[in-house]
Amino acid sequence: MLISTSFLSSKNIPEDLRKLNKTDTDFIHVDVMDGKFVKNKSLPYSELKNIYKFTDKRLDVHLMVKNPSKVIEKFATLNCEYITIHLEIDEDIEKVLSMIKDYGIKCGLAIKPNTPVKDLVPYLPLIDLVLVMSVEPGQGGQEFIEESENKIKEVRTLLDEYKSKVLISVDGGVKDNTKDMCSNADILVSGSFIIGNDDFQGQIDKLRK
Ligand code: DX5
Ligand code: ZN
Repeated sequence: MLISTSFLSSKNIPEDLRKLNKTDTDFIHVDVMDGKFVKNKSLPYSELKNIYKFTDKRLDVHLMVKNPSKVIEKFATLNCEYITIHLEIDEDIEKVLSMIKDYGIKCGLAIKPNTPVKDLVPYLPLIDLVLVMSVEPGQGGQEFIEESENKIKEVRTLLDEYKSKVLISVDGGVKDNTKDMCSNADILVSGSFIIGNDDFQGQIDKLRK
């Protein structure tokens, strides 16, 4: 199981990123919020871009924004493994996915808890990752929505049906006592469970078990 650590709930981002750099987390999950697609707003890009000073881990960027086409160029200059956009936006998804691909970055499509899995079908040939939200997007530290277990299974069945190599990532409320509901996933995104304890590596180990 791959681990992507979110620092959304961090009170001291430089220090926590330096600490995470010494763990074996596979990615740093960067939550970007515009105050429109979700109520909250994340740090502005002018500050987020400084992340490279504190980590050399690959980034897993999660764009919870209404108009990703406006920010992809900026994030593409960072050390990104994935840039993920939401399926529920009004922009031309295919176009935005191909913008990401043009930078040589893998692209992901995220679905909110109430978005049907079948809506992913037209995009499966275009993406590298499906991000299943197991909380309503917008803030860290929320409870894992238990129906997500079936949703993740449903995505797995769909991918098998299409013989697709797309990875499944799960984001929101992932901790030691909810990770078993995500056994069909490839990547676990976890924030407060890892950052909220001094022993980051110990927490990561609990998720990998
Ligand atoms: C929620 C974000 C998540 C969140 C994960 O909108 O997309 O990445 O920060 O944090 P925890 O693990 O605390 O739910
Ligand atoms: Zn996220």
